[in-house]
Amino acid sequence: MNKQSKMAVFGGTGMLGGAITRRLSSNGYTNVLTPSRKNGFDLLKKADVDNFFRTEKPDGVFMVAGLVGGILANNTRQADFLYQNAMMILNVIESLAKNSPQTKLLYTGSTCIYPRENPQPINESRFMTGPLEETNKGYAVAKGMGIIACQLYRQQYGINAIAAMPTNLYGPNDNYDLNNSHFIAALVQKFVNAQRDGSELVFWGSGKPRREALYVDDCADACIFLMENYSSPEIVNIGTGFDHSIREYIDIAKKVFEYSGEIKWDTSKPDGMYEKRTDITYLKSIMPQYDPRPFEDGLREVLKVDFGVEV
Ligand SMILES: NC(=O)c1ccc[n+]([C@@H]2O[C@H](COP(=O)([O-])OP(=O)(O)OC[C@H]3O[C@@H](n4cnc5c(N)ncnc54)[C@H](OP(=O)(O)O)[C@@H]3O)[C@@H](O)[C@H]2O)c1
Repeated sequence: MNKQSKMAVFGGTGMLGGAITRRLSSNGYTNVLTPSRKNGFDLLKKADVDNFFRTEKPDGVFMVAGLVGGILANNTRQADFLYQNAMMILNVIESLAKNSPQTKLLYTGSTCIYPRENPQPINESRFMTGPLEETNKGYAVAKGMGIIACQLYRQQYGINAIAAMPTNLYGPNDNYDLNNSHFIAALVQKFVNAQRDGSELVFWGSGKPRREALYVDDCADACIFLMENYSSPEIVNIGTGFDHSIREYIDIAKKVFEYSGEIKWDTSKPDGMYEKRTDITYLKSIMPQYDPRPFEDGLREVLKVDFGVEV
């Protein structure tokens, strides 16, 4: 693979796909395709996928498209999350095997594939070792199936398919809909609202659970590095190597927003898992220079890019 290689990003209109496209371009890649539903390419339609691989035969494809949502959407639309995420990767990998078997595939699962209970930090060997969290079972099963698909198509058809498991991401082009967002996007939007119109700042639970949050460009850099340098069936976590309690995230946001108002806690709402931290030892052994940025720096970047605010 070199800078002239033909690369495709599926999901290029999304947060991670957008970051991969951006980083490929700044790394000097000159031939990057980003087919999307906007230009009539639907990964749920096998004919669209077949047509793409038959005509384009890219050297590498980042399969980072997916149906992605916060806790509410994941829980209330479990069947949609199962069906769409499963069909998209099956359409891609089956089509690759039949139409473009030389194309290297990088597939993103998620750390949701790991069981509900784990020794911390969560190592890759925990995959398929216990019951899943009920609230996002549909998504997690589909993502886990995608990993197995990568391994089985490698075994049977010799497809160079690799699978990476990103932790919670945030960054430019995140989903800021408070009814359907992940924790960091919701935090950012609530602080922006409080600054703009004095909205009350209310957060769920006790603030004690500890979470990871990875700036999406750091995840994109790891995905590109794996595409260029890694070719094994074992899955690779893309985490941060550090975490914070929810209260600590809020303290960092207060500092960045220079916010001195009150923060309220709705303790009638559940805390969720106390700790969820991914082990990145394996990634560091492949990519020793991997060094994701601190939350404060990522937050300042998000405010600049998505909200036009320099802080
Ligand atoms: N966000 C996170 O915290 C996180 C954490 C771990 C893993 N991941 C994984 O990382 C990947 C990217 O996540 P993200 O946060 O970047 O998601 P996102 O912003 O919601 O983007 C999803 C992308 O998938 C595309 N897509 C969905 N259905 C499609 C279809 N039928 N045909 C073609 N394209 C379709 C969307 O295109 P449209 O513009 O057409 O909708 C969009 O470009 C996903 O596989 C996700 O599971 C994300």
